[in-house]
Amino acid sequence: MRLRVDLLPHGAYSDVVLVVDVLRATTTAVTYLERGAEALLLTSTPEVALTQRAAGVVLAGERGGRPIPGFDLGNSPVEAAAGNFANQSVVMNTTNGTAAAHLAAASGKHVLLAALTNAHAAARRARALATEEIAIVCAGTDGRVGLEDVYAAGVLAEYLLAMGDFTPDDGARIALTVRRSSGNPAEVLSGSGHGTYLGGIGLEEDVRYAAQVSVSTVVPLLDPAGGAEGVLRFVAG
Ligand code: MLT
Repeated sequence: MRLRVDLLPHGAYSDVVLVVDVLRATTTAVTYLERGAEALLLTSTPEVALTQRAAGVVLAGERGGRPIPGFDLGNSPVEAAAGNFANQSVVMNTTNGTAAAHLAAASGKHVLLAALTNAHAAARRARALATEEIAIVCAGTDGRVGLEDVYAAGVLAEYLLAMGDFTPDDGARIALTVRRSSGNPAEVLSGSGHGTYLGGIGLEEDVRYAAQVSVSTVVPLLDPAGGAEGVLRFVAG
């Protein structure tokens, strides 16, 4: 089976896609579902997110790492972990992560959200769903490669290689090399460009939270029947 890693989102996926935005969108998405959210609604723009406001719906998102004006929450996994979202849906819009999910959903058969926190469970779920290819898509930051996402792609690729017979592409081999030649996840994330930026605006706890590996079995899975124009619905899959 093919194992593809896109160091930045490219599109044209044929089977299973694992979308990775460790700092912080996919880490936070996993946490909302862990904290009881019934569904995540990932929107294409903040404007579409605002149209989703309704009873039982929480609006969460960021620009520049800070909460979007008019939203209820930012994009912090630590903030999400402190919340209780039972009987609620969480609308999410972020700079890079939600955009990568929309690109993946445009062609992928099965779209899952992966982070370090749910890495092993996400790899297992992807392996179970795939018939021809697993593509790991790194969201990056503002069109630039993010070390934290490539590192996480390497962790996922390592799990997958242990689970089955895969042919890794060059992107996967680069991610594996980064994974195998780097220090511990906390060092990699706090030393990354976006990790340094988040630390600089007082969000170092989010970076530490995102560095936990395979502590969650929650895997957000795209519900193809759900959603609407500009809205992707994810549930615990
Ligand atoms: C993103 O989608 O760009 C990130 O999740 C941004 C962040 O939350 O810091």
